[in-house]
Amino acid sequence: MVILEGRGITKEFGGLRAVSEVDFTLNQGEILGLIGPNGAGKTTIINMISGTYPPTSGRVIFKGEDITGKKPYKIGRMGISRTYQIVKPFPGMTVRENVSVGAMFGARGKELSAKEAIQRADETLEFVGLSEMADRRADDLNVASRKRLEMAKALAMGPEVILFDEVMAGLNFSEIDKAVELILKVRDKGISILVIEHVMRAIKNVCDRVFVLHHGTKIAEGTVDEVLSNDEVIKAYLGRRYKELVQ
Ligand SMILES: Nc1ncnc2c1ncn2[C@@H]1O[C@H](COP(=O)(O)OP(=O)(O)OP(=O)(O)O)[C@@H](O)[C@H]1O
Ligand SMILES: [Mg+2]
Repeated sequence: MVILEGRGITKEFGGLRAVSEVDFTLNQGEILGLIGPNGAGKTTIINMISGTYPPTSGRVIFKGEDITGKKPYKIGRMGISRTYQIVKPFPGMTVRENVSVGAMFGARGKELSAKEAIQRADETLEFVGLSEMADRRADDLNVASRKRLEMAKALAMGPEVILFDEVMAGLNFSEIDKAVELILKVRDKGISILVIEHVMRAIKNVCDRVFVLHHGTKIAEGTVDEVLSNDEVIKAYLGRRYKELVQ
């Protein structure tokens, strides 16, 4: 069953067509990868789904309902949450407080008291392995923990679909492997996932399917193996990464 769908989604910034008529489908319980070179339009796709920018044209459909152009808080409440490529913790607040804010703004946030939001935050911190950091200030965390906090904020919203934007950038190999485990654990909760990542080791280990953007246009889609052996993808994107992929 398809849970999230983009139909011909297009975004123009002034004269620049950042994303051009992209179709994609995310199935219930699936992990769909989105890869492509810098500036290909990947984050813009997440921004269009999450309501940060309305698409210039095209439709975004969530559980059969047209959500195109809805405000971010509405889309959050409907059950789609996201992380930010440039992590944005509330700097003066503790890790627990940061995640509580996520809980308050999430799918069931309306019914949550402050106490319940804190409880949800603690459960989420446990889930992502950040419990020990709960009372630390968010701006004291290292990169790996900040990325985890970013994931926790999105998870605390209780989403059905989550959009991860480069949650592994800047991590070392062992941190990447832990992040891969966490993403698989998120899927095991029944959450469907769109994941943007440059880290091929992660793409290979988490994605059921992948689609590739280049200059805003979808140039390939399929299983990871299919996409990684596609000549156009190798030429446009993989280049020297190719060796890392096939080993
Ligand atoms: N708010 C904006 N205003 C104007 N141009 C923008 C805006 N956001 C993105 N762009 C442009 O749209 C294009 C796609 O950007 P986007 O951030 O979606 O790429 P990306 O694939 O996420 O790249 P990266 O891998 O570097 O994160 C780029 O040329 C970028 O400069
Ligand atoms: Mg990006």
